Amino acid sequence: MPDAAPEVRRYPQRVKLSSLTTLGVGGEAELWTVENEADLAEATRKPYRVLGAGSNLLVADAGVEERVVKLGRSFNDLGSFGATPEVWLGAATPLPGLVRRAAAAGLSGLEGLLGIPAVLGGAAAMNAGTRFGELSDTLREVELFANGRLHRVSADALGLSYRRSTLPPGALITRVRLELTPSSPERVRTKLAQVDAARRGQPKTKSAGCAFKNPAGDSAGRLIDAAGLKGLQVGQARVSPEHGNFIVNLGGATAADVAALLTQIRTRVGAPLETEWELWGFDPAQVAGQELTCSV
Ligand code: FAD
Ligand code: EPU
Repeated sequence: MPDAAPEVRRYPQRVKLSSLTTLGVGGEAELWTVENEADLAEATRKPYRVLGAGSNLLVADAGVEERVVKLGRSFNDLGSFGATPEVWLGAATPLPGLVRRAAAAGLSGLEGLLGIPAVLGGAAAMNAGTRFGELSDTLREVELFANGRLHRVSADALGLSYRRSTLPPGALITRVRLELTPSSPERVRTKLAQVDAARRGQPKTKSAGCAFKNPAGDSAGRLIDAAGLKGLQVGQARVSPEHGNFIVNLGGATAADVAALLTQIRTRVGAPLETEWELWGFDPAQVAGQELTCSV
């Protein structure tokens, strides 16, 4: 008889959020990995936050008190993604594989998302994208869990704009409907190569992508570079020498290091910079202003 598979303990578990974020910083929280509607109902009975791939998050060293709800494997539909231009996919489906599969099937519309290490739910919540295209180009509808039940909501109602949506707090996207455009693998690959070329100056070291949104008509990376801040370091957090808007974790960075670096950048650039990252566990008043320090 083969050994019984180890029990998968779905929830709750105490975890370090540093292990679930691409920047690799952040303290503990109670993680609820959900696989179905009943799990969602159970997990969302107390205050919670929704975690995608953790690629746009700065989590405080003290972690967060709320539950952290993450969609499990049953919401990852990459395996079943075929060659249909219109498709419903689970919100835990990772973008990188999806972009590749769509290209292989000769379906266009996702090329601008190349290189974004998100899952579909997080990409919809942030309207992830580049100047070559964003998720709102192909997103038509979502299924979301809110107030204890599932709803279908048209993408038009999500208020998607540059790195932003108007999802109500606590609304958890479970599935998304995308409409792609039939093209050819060659044409899609040509566009992917263009997007890839535009990303070549970005660092490979651990980060959460661009820290700040671009101000209208300018680039935060250019402003940070022009202020001479590339290479500026606090503890193990550094302004990337490759791209000024990336803060990289050299290994043991803490959220306090990163927060102090954000504050120094804002002060020294001399123009208002709004963070693109979502900040978890920080004092909201500090987040809005210049003095971003960890609350504990
Ligand atoms: P998370 O970071 O886990 O969460 C982000 C927000 O979305 C949180 O508020 C969270 O609560 C919410 N959320 C997550 N899942 C759900 C859900 N299922 N339902 C409701 N809300 C949810 N971004 C770009 O736009 N363009 C880029 O070119 C880009 N390049 C990047 C490069 C690198 C190397 C890295 C590390 C990041 C980059 N990013 C980029 C940032 C990031 O990938 C995007 O913001 C992405 O949309 C975040 O998705 P996520 O799944 O990681 O969400
Ligand atoms: N620049 C500098 N110095 C730098 C960085 C950039 O002078 O250190 C200059 C570049 O030379 C270029 C201009 O600023 O003239 C724009 O730079 P880039 O093409 O790198 O684009 P960006 O505006 O810095 C945006 C997105 C990225 C996305 C790229 C590619 C934002 C905040 N950033 O970067 O998104 O990958 O375009 O399309 O919108 C993210 O959101 O996390 C992210 C990485």
